[in-house]
Amino acid sequence: MQKIRTAVFPVAGLGTRFLPATKASPKEMLPVVDKPLIQYAVEEALDAGIEQMIFITSSSKRAIEDHFDRNTELENELRSRGKFEMLDMIRHLVPDGVSCIYIRQPEALGLGHAVLCAQPAVGNEPFAVILADDLIDGGEQSCLGQMVDVYAKHEAGVLAVEKVERAETSKYGIVSPKPMYERVSGLTGIVEKPAPDKAPSELAVVGRYILNPDIFEHLQTIPKGAGGEIQLTDAIAEQIKHDSTVLAYEFNGKRFDCGSKLGYLKATTEFALQHPNLREAFHSYLEALCKGKFCK
Ligand code: UTP
Repeated sequence: MQKIRTAVFPVAGLGTRFLPATKASPKEMLPVVDKPLIQYAVEEALDAGIEQMIFITSSSKRAIEDHFDRNTELENELRSRGKFEMLDMIRHLVPDGVSCIYIRQPEALGLGHAVLCAQPAVGNEPFAVILADDLIDGGEQSCLGQMVDVYAKHEAGVLAVEKVERAETSKYGIVSPKPMYERVSGLTGIVEKPAPDKAPSELAVVGRYILNPDIFEHLQTIPKGAGGEIQLTDAIAEQIKHDSTVLAYEFNGKRFDCGSKLGYLKATTEFALQHPNLREAFHSYLEALCKGKFCK
Protein backbone atom coordinates (compact mmCIF):
# COMPACT_ATOMS: atom_id res chain seq x y z
CA MET A 1 0.00 0.00 0.00
CA GLN A 2 1.22 3.51 -0.83
CA LYS A 3 1.45 5.76 2.22
CA ILE A 4 -0.36 9.11 2.14
CA ARG A 5 2.70 11.38 2.37
CA THR A 6 1.41 14.57 0.80
CA ALA A 7 -1.34 17.06 1.66
CA VAL A 8 -2.48 19.80 -0.68
CA PHE A 9 -3.91 23.00 0.85
CA PRO A 10 -5.78 25.05 -1.77
CA VAL A 11 -5.68 28.56 -0.32
CA ALA A 12 -6.07 30.66 -3.48
CA GLY A 13 -9.82 31.34 -3.22
CA LEU A 14 -11.14 34.89 -2.97
CA GLY A 15 -13.03 34.45 0.32
CA THR A 16 -15.93 36.66 -0.74
CA ARG A 17 -18.22 35.40 2.07
CA PHE A 18 -15.92 36.98 4.64
CA LEU A 19 -15.40 40.43 3.14
CA PRO A 20 -14.20 42.96 4.11
CA ALA A 21 -11.89 40.95 6.46
CA THR A 22 -10.52 38.98 3.48
CA LYS A 23 -9.92 41.92 1.15
CA ALA A 24 -6.19 42.11 1.89
CA SER A 25 -5.64 39.21 4.31
CA PRO A 26 -6.05 35.50 3.51
CA LYS A 27 -9.14 33.93 5.07
CA GLU A 28 -6.89 31.02 6.10
CA MET A 29 -5.01 33.43 8.40
CA LEU A 30 -8.14 34.28 10.41
CA PRO A 31 -7.32 33.24 13.99
CA VAL A 32 -9.53 30.89 15.98
CA VAL A 33 -8.54 31.88 19.53
CA ASP A 34 -4.73 32.07 19.02
CA LYS A 35 -3.93 30.09 15.88
CA PRO A 36 -4.76 30.82 12.24
CA LEU A 37 -7.04 28.38 10.42
CA ILE A 38 -4.19 27.20 8.19
CA GLN A 39 -2.18 26.12 11.25
CA TYR A 40 -5.03 23.93 12.50
CA ALA A 41 -5.11 22.36 9.01
CA VAL A 42 -1.35 21.73 9.00
CA GLU A 43 -1.53 20.23 12.52
CA GLU A 44 -4.28 17.88 11.32
CA ALA A 45 -2.08 16.81 8.41
CA LEU A 46 0.87 16.19 10.75
CA ASP A 47 -1.38 14.12 13.03
CA ALA A 48 -2.26 11.98 9.99
CA GLY A 49 1.42 11.32 9.19
CA ILE A 50 1.80 13.78 6.28
CA GLU A 51 5.42 14.69 5.44
CA GLN A 52 5.00 17.08 2.53
CA MET A 53 2.68 20.12 2.59
CA ILE A 54 1.79 21.76 -0.72
CA PHE A 55 0.08 25.15 -0.55
CA ILE A 56 -1.70 26.43 -3.64
CA THR A 57 -1.51 30.18 -3.15
CA SER A 58 -2.10 33.45 -4.94
CA SER A 59 -0.58 36.93 -4.84
CA SER A 60 -2.70 38.04 -1.87
CA LYS A 61 -1.75 35.04 0.30
CA ARG A 62 1.89 35.81 1.12
CA ALA A 63 1.12 35.91 4.85
CA ILE A 64 0.66 32.11 4.75
CA GLU A 65 4.24 31.58 3.51
CA ASP A 66 5.54 34.03 6.11
CA HIS A 67 3.63 32.24 8.89
CA PHE A 68 5.46 28.95 8.28
CA ASP A 69 8.83 30.61 7.56
CA ARG A 70 11.50 31.71 10.05
CA ASN A 71 11.24 35.24 11.48
CA THR A 72 14.77 35.86 12.72
CA GLU A 73 14.06 39.35 14.07
CA LEU A 74 11.24 38.03 16.27
CA GLU A 75 13.34 35.00 17.26
CA ASN A 76 16.27 37.24 18.35
CA GLU A 77 13.95 39.47 20.34
CA LEU A 78 12.32 36.53 22.15
CA ARG A 79 15.76 35.04 22.87
CA SER A 80 17.08 38.30 24.31
CA ARG A 81 13.98 38.57 26.53
CA GLY A 82 14.45 34.98 27.75
CA LYS A 83 11.10 33.85 26.30
CA PHE A 84 12.39 30.43 25.29
CA GLU A 85 9.05 28.61 25.34
CA MET A 86 7.57 31.09 22.86
CA LEU A 87 10.74 30.94 20.77
CA ASP A 88 10.50 27.15 20.56
CA MET A 89 6.81 27.37 19.63
CA ILE A 90 7.25 29.80 16.73
CA ARG A 91 10.31 27.91 15.41
CA HIS A 92 8.55 24.57 15.25
CA LEU A 93 5.14 25.26 13.70
CA VAL A 94 6.23 22.66 11.16
CA PRO A 95 8.63 20.04 12.54
CA ASP A 96 12.08 19.46 11.01
CA GLY A 97 11.93 16.96 8.17
CA VAL A 98 8.49 18.11 6.95
CA SER A 99 8.70 20.11 3.73
CA CYS A 100 6.49 23.01 2.63
CA ILE A 101 6.07 23.73 -1.08
CA TYR A 102 4.27 26.82 -2.41
CA ILE A 103 2.72 26.86 -5.89
CA ARG A 104 0.90 29.84 -7.37
CA GLN A 105 -2.54 29.43 -8.91
CA PRO A 106 -2.42 32.28 -11.44
CA GLU A 107 -6.19 32.81 -11.51
CA ALA A 108 -8.99 31.61 -9.21
CA LEU A 109 -10.43 29.15 -11.72
CA GLY A 110 -11.89 26.84 -9.09
CA LEU A 111 -10.96 24.22 -6.51
CA GLY A 112 -10.38 21.57 -9.20
CA HIS A 113 -7.95 23.85 -11.00
CA ALA A 114 -6.15 24.61 -7.72
CA VAL A 115 -5.68 20.87 -7.07
CA LEU A 116 -4.41 20.39 -10.64
CA CYS A 117 -1.73 23.02 -9.95
CA ALA A 118 -0.29 20.60 -7.36
CA GLN A 119 0.31 17.77 -9.86
CA PRO A 120 4.04 18.41 -10.53
CA ALA A 121 4.78 18.24 -6.79
CA VAL A 122 2.41 15.35 -5.94
CA GLY A 123 3.50 13.01 -8.73
CA ASN A 124 1.91 9.61 -9.20
CA GLU A 125 0.81 8.79 -5.68
CA PRO A 126 -2.34 9.13 -3.55
CA PHE A 127 -2.59 12.40 -1.62
CA ALA A 128 -4.82 14.34 0.76
CA VAL A 129 -6.58 17.65 0.17
CA ILE A 130 -7.48 19.86 3.14
CA LEU A 131 -9.64 22.98 2.89
CA ALA A 132 -8.53 25.01 5.88
CA ASP A 133 -11.76 26.99 6.14
CA ASP A 134 -13.54 23.79 7.18
CA LEU A 135 -12.18 23.49 10.71
CA ILE A 136 -12.88 20.00 12.09
CA ASP A 137 -12.59 19.04 15.74
CA GLY A 138 -12.17 15.28 15.42
CA GLY A 139 -11.92 14.68 19.19
CA GLU A 140 -9.60 11.75 19.89
CA GLN A 141 -8.41 11.31 16.29
CA SER A 142 -8.28 14.01 13.64
CA CYS A 143 -10.64 13.74 10.68
CA LEU A 144 -7.79 13.18 8.21
CA GLY A 145 -6.25 10.59 10.56
CA GLN A 146 -9.55 8.67 10.53
CA MET A 147 -9.66 8.89 6.72
CA VAL A 148 -6.09 7.60 6.36
CA ASP A 149 -7.21 4.52 8.34
CA VAL A 150 -10.11 4.00 5.91
CA TYR A 151 -7.72 4.43 2.97
CA ALA A 152 -5.37 1.84 4.49
CA LYS A 153 -8.22 -0.73 4.52
CA HIS A 154 -9.44 -0.16 0.96
CA GLU A 155 -6.73 1.71 -0.98
CA ALA A 156 -9.56 3.75 -2.50
CA GLY A 157 -10.30 7.46 -2.65
CA VAL A 158 -12.00 8.68 0.55
CA LEU A 159 -14.22 11.78 0.87
CA ALA A 160 -15.27 13.18 4.24
CA VAL A 161 -19.04 13.62 4.28
CA GLU A 162 -21.66 14.87 6.72
CA LYS A 163 -25.45 14.98 6.66
CA VAL A 164 -26.87 18.43 5.86
CA GLU A 165 -30.40 19.83 5.69
CA ARG A 166 -31.98 19.14 2.29
CA ALA A 167 -32.45 22.90 1.84
CA GLU A 168 -28.64 23.28 2.02
CA THR A 169 -27.63 20.82 -0.71
CA SER A 170 -27.01 23.58 -3.27
CA LYS A 171 -23.96 24.70 -1.24
CA TYR A 172 -22.10 21.37 -1.43
CA GLY A 173 -20.99 18.41 -3.51
CA ILE A 174 -23.61 15.73 -2.77
CA VAL A 175 -22.91 12.00 -3.05
CA SER A 176 -24.98 8.99 -4.16
CA PRO A 177 -24.00 6.53 -1.42
CA LYS A 178 -24.18 2.75 -1.35
CA PRO A 179 -23.77 1.87 2.37
CA MET A 180 -21.01 -0.68 3.12
CA TYR A 181 -20.56 -0.63 6.89
CA GLU A 182 -20.69 1.82 9.78
CA ARG A 183 -19.75 5.31 8.51
CA VAL A 184 -18.44 4.01 5.15
CA SER A 185 -20.31 3.96 1.81
CA GLY A 186 -19.28 3.26 -1.74
CA LEU A 187 -20.08 6.00 -4.23
CA THR A 188 -22.11 5.51 -7.37
CA GLY A 189 -22.05 9.21 -8.23
CA ILE A 190 -21.47 12.73 -6.99
CA VAL A 191 -22.90 16.05 -8.11
CA GLU A 192 -21.82 19.65 -7.38
CA LYS A 193 -24.34 22.00 -5.75
CA PRO A 194 -27.60 20.27 -6.73
CA ALA A 195 -30.95 21.96 -6.03
CA PRO A 196 -32.68 20.30 -3.02
CA ASP A 197 -35.21 18.48 -5.21
CA LYS A 198 -32.41 17.10 -7.46
CA ALA A 199 -29.96 16.07 -4.72
CA PRO A 200 -29.29 12.30 -4.68
CA SER A 201 -28.93 12.31 -0.86
CA GLU A 202 -28.30 14.63 2.08
CA LEU A 203 -24.68 13.55 2.44
CA ALA A 204 -22.44 16.49 1.62
CA VAL A 205 -18.71 16.45 0.95
CA VAL A 206 -16.76 18.68 3.33
CA GLY A 207 -13.19 19.90 3.06
CA ARG A 208 -11.18 16.68 3.42
CA TYR A 209 -10.31 14.31 0.56
CA ILE A 210 -7.93 11.44 -0.09
CA LEU A 211 -7.53 11.11 -3.84
CA ASN A 212 -5.83 8.66 -6.13
CA PRO A 213 -3.61 10.33 -8.74
CA ASP A 214 -5.86 9.45 -11.72
CA ILE A 215 -7.83 12.53 -10.56
CA PHE A 216 -5.29 14.67 -12.46
CA GLU A 217 -6.17 13.11 -15.85
CA HIS A 218 -9.80 14.03 -15.28
CA LEU A 219 -9.01 17.52 -13.97
CA GLN A 220 -7.14 18.17 -17.23
CA THR A 221 -10.09 17.25 -19.43
CA ILE A 222 -13.33 18.21 -17.65
CA PRO A 223 -15.10 21.36 -18.81
CA LYS A 224 -15.95 24.23 -16.47
CA GLY A 225 -18.81 23.29 -14.16
CA ALA A 226 -20.99 25.01 -11.53
CA GLY A 227 -20.20 28.74 -11.21
CA GLY A 228 -18.00 28.58 -14.33
CA GLU A 229 -15.23 26.95 -12.27
CA ILE A 230 -13.19 23.74 -12.73
CA GLN A 231 -14.86 21.64 -10.05
CA LEU A 232 -13.05 18.92 -8.10
CA THR A 233 -16.45 17.22 -7.70
CA ASP A 234 -16.81 16.83 -11.49
CA ALA A 235 -13.39 15.16 -11.74
CA ILE A 236 -14.34 12.76 -8.91
CA ALA A 237 -17.56 11.94 -10.82
CA GLU A 238 -15.33 11.02 -13.80
CA GLN A 239 -13.15 8.79 -11.58
CA ILE A 240 -16.28 6.90 -10.51
CA LYS A 241 -17.46 6.54 -14.12
CA HIS A 242 -14.03 5.11 -15.01
CA ASP A 243 -14.32 2.45 -12.25
CA SER A 244 -11.97 4.07 -9.77
CA THR A 245 -13.33 3.24 -6.29
CA VAL A 246 -14.22 6.26 -4.18
CA LEU A 247 -15.68 5.95 -0.67
CA ALA A 248 -17.68 8.39 1.45
CA TYR A 249 -16.71 8.47 5.12
CA GLU A 250 -19.00 9.98 7.77
CA PHE A 251 -16.25 11.24 10.07
CA ASN A 252 -16.37 11.39 13.82
CA GLY A 253 -16.25 14.98 15.02
CA LYS A 254 -17.65 18.43 14.50
CA ARG A 255 -17.10 20.68 11.49
CA PHE A 256 -17.16 24.47 11.54
CA ASP A 257 -17.56 26.33 8.25
CA CYS A 258 -15.12 29.12 9.04
CA GLY A 259 -15.53 30.54 5.53
CA SER A 260 -18.86 31.91 6.81
CA LYS A 261 -19.09 34.52 9.55
CA LEU A 262 -21.51 32.51 11.71
CA GLY A 263 -19.47 29.30 11.40
CA TYR A 264 -16.35 31.21 12.37
CA LEU A 265 -18.03 32.68 15.47
CA LYS A 266 -19.21 29.21 16.54
CA ALA A 267 -15.69 27.81 16.12
CA THR A 268 -14.15 30.66 18.09
CA THR A 269 -16.64 30.16 20.93
CA GLU A 270 -16.24 26.38 21.14
CA PHE A 271 -12.44 26.37 20.79
CA ALA A 272 -12.18 29.11 23.46
CA LEU A 273 -14.28 26.91 25.77
CA GLN A 274 -11.69 24.12 25.30
CA HIS A 275 -8.60 26.31 25.64
CA PRO A 276 -6.74 25.41 28.87
CA ASN A 277 -5.83 29.04 29.73
CA LEU A 278 -9.11 30.62 28.73
CA ARG A 279 -11.94 28.20 29.29
CA GLU A 280 -12.80 29.10 32.88
CA ALA A 281 -12.80 32.86 32.40
CA PHE A 282 -14.57 32.60 29.06
CA HIS A 283 -17.18 30.23 30.46
CA SER A 284 -17.94 32.65 33.33
CA TYR A 285 -18.16 35.51 30.86
CA LEU A 286 -20.61 33.64 28.61
CA GLU A 287 -22.66 32.54 31.60
CA ALA A 288 -22.95 36.13 32.81
CA LEU A 289 -23.75 37.32 29.31
CA CYS A 290 -26.53 34.76 28.97
CA LYS A 291 -28.00 35.73 32.34
CA GLY A 292 -28.39 39.21 30.90
CA LYS A 293 -25.81 40.93 33.12
CA PHE A 294 -24.34 42.69 30.09
CA CYS A 295 -27.63 43.23 28.30
CA LYS A 296 -30.00 46.10 28.95
P1 UTP B 1 -14.67 28.28 -1.61
O1 UTP B 1 -15.77 27.71 -2.37
O2 UTP B 1 -14.79 28.38 -0.13
O3 UTP B 1 -14.33 29.70 -2.24
O4 UTP B 1 -13.37 27.47 -1.99
P2 UTP B 1 -13.54 30.90 -1.64
O5 UTP B 1 -13.18 31.80 -2.77
O6 UTP B 1 -12.38 30.48 -0.80
O7 UTP B 1 -14.59 31.59 -0.64
P3 UTP B 1 -16.00 32.32 -0.93
O8 UTP B 1 -16.98 31.22 -1.23
O9 UTP B 1 -15.79 33.30 -2.05
O10 UTP B 1 -16.25 33.01 0.37
C1 UTP B 1 -13.09 26.21 -1.39
C2 UTP B 1 -11.60 26.09 -1.21
O11 UTP B 1 -10.94 26.09 -2.47
C3 UTP B 1 -9.93 27.08 -2.53
C4 UTP B 1 -10.33 28.09 -1.46
O12 UTP B 1 -9.18 28.79 -0.99
C5 UTP B 1 -10.98 27.22 -0.41
O13 UTP B 1 -10.00 26.63 0.45
N1 UTP B 1 -9.91 27.63 -3.90
C6 UTP B 1 -11.08 27.95 -4.51
C7 UTP B 1 -8.71 27.82 -4.54
O14 UTP B 1 -7.62 27.53 -3.98
N2 UTP B 1 -8.72 28.28 -5.81
C8 UTP B 1 -9.86 28.61 -6.46
O15 UTP B 1 -9.79 29.03 -7.63
C9 UTP B 1 -11.08 28.43 -5.78
